[in-house]
Amino acid sequence: PTGRVDDALARPLHDLRISVTDRCNFRCVYCMPKEVFDKDYPYLPHASLLSFEEITRVARLFVEHGVEKLRLTGGEPLLRKDIERLVGMLRDLRTPSGRPLDLTLTTNGSLLARKARALKDAGLDRVTVSLDALDDATFRRMNDVDFAVTDVLDGIEAAHAAGLGPIKVNMVVKRGMNDAEILPMARHFKATPFILRFIEFMDVGASNGWNMDDVVPSREIASRIGAEMPLEPVEPNYHGETATRWRYLDGSGEIGLISSVTQAFCRDCTRIRLSTEGQLYTCLFATRGHDLRALLRDGRSDLEISSAIAQLWRARADRYSETRTIHTAALRGGAQKVEMSYIGG
Ligand code: GTP
Ligand code: 5AD
Ligand code: SF4
Ligand code: SF4
Repeated sequence: PTGRVDDALARPLHDLRISVTDRCNFRCVYCMPKEVFDKDYPYLPHASLLSFEEITRVARLFVEHGVEKLRLTGGEPLLRKDIERLVGMLRDLRTPSGRPLDLTLTTNGSLLARKARALKDAGLDRVTVSLDALDDATFRRMNDVDFAVTDVLDGIEAAHAAGLGPIKVNMVVKRGMNDAEILPMARHFKATPFILRFIEFMDVGASNGWNMDDVVPSREIASRIGAEMPLEPVEPNYHGETATRWRYLDGSGEIGLISSVTQAFCRDCTRIRLSTEGQLYTCLFATRGHDLRALLRDGRSDLEISSAIAQLWRARADRYSETRTIHTAALRGGAQKVEMSYIGG
């Protein structure tokens, strides 16, 4: 059952996003609002987390099916104890043709200054850092735990110094909250080695109070930036890239626009997600996962697990972002979408 597999819409399997914890030290208003993620929130107990050995085994089986990129996410992945050890274990995996994988991690940057060197030494290729504003008051309002911008910027510098590049900076734009930061962020990261990407605020999960009015369409972001710093489109780096790329006409670098709301990119979606407790999700907007942990802990062979993976991917027909409507909740019969902090950003 090994070898490449395509899903029901002829999409190959290319990246596996692994959530290593459902916890985070931030409470970003669009992701883990404080009212919901309070001290009584039922986070996963330690025993339900996949071990590093289990994660590595799953990753190896996915690599046999064509996965070439692994992304560690969360929650905040750097909160997982000894994460460097997992990085080291994943580093040793090879594609069927013997190539190493693209091994990367998405972080809020808060622990990066402390951990960048160890992550690099363990074999991590690069990091993507979330940063929603340069203005300190705005950023503190967004992370809602009073975390300072300078500490994230220090983390980015430390990652750069450690050689964890190319580094991307992800900014989720929410109208009325941080859209005034679009231009300051663009100016700040222009002519630096860092690639800034603007992300449309999405209706993931069930607790962020999403509303279409809060979305700033990528088209609008591009024209606001382009009016001051002219841009031209660039070809994608790879098939199925989430961001559309734009470069400054004056040659001082590029930005990315991730338009999951206004220009969905499901057609080329090659991503699968493994939750902290070993549930597989074939879409970010899925309402249920597939219990891989049960197979792992039930003593199943590699062959059995491998065929379960292939079967799941072959049946996949998800394209939520292309079919979303304002009536989605009703259409889903009230089933709750899974939280992004659980499934991985
Ligand atoms: P690169 O390998 O650097 O191209 O990373 P990436 O864009 O695949 O991953 P990243 O974690 O940087 O994704 C950035 C953001 O894009 C995420 O935080 C999500 O907001 C959004 N995103 C990523 N994958 C998906 C997806 O499959 N569906 C949707 N709707 N949004 C996604
Ligand atoms: N919309 C868009 N992106 C989101 N993220 C989390 N919640 C949302 C949302 N509602 C993404 C951001 C953040 C990453 C960890 O998860 O990109 O940087
Ligand atoms: Fe934490 Fe990232 Fe979610 Fe913010 S967006 S709460 S940093 S997981
Ligand atoms: Fe992929 Fe689902 Fe996102 Fe569409 S909505 S790009 S199918 S994860």
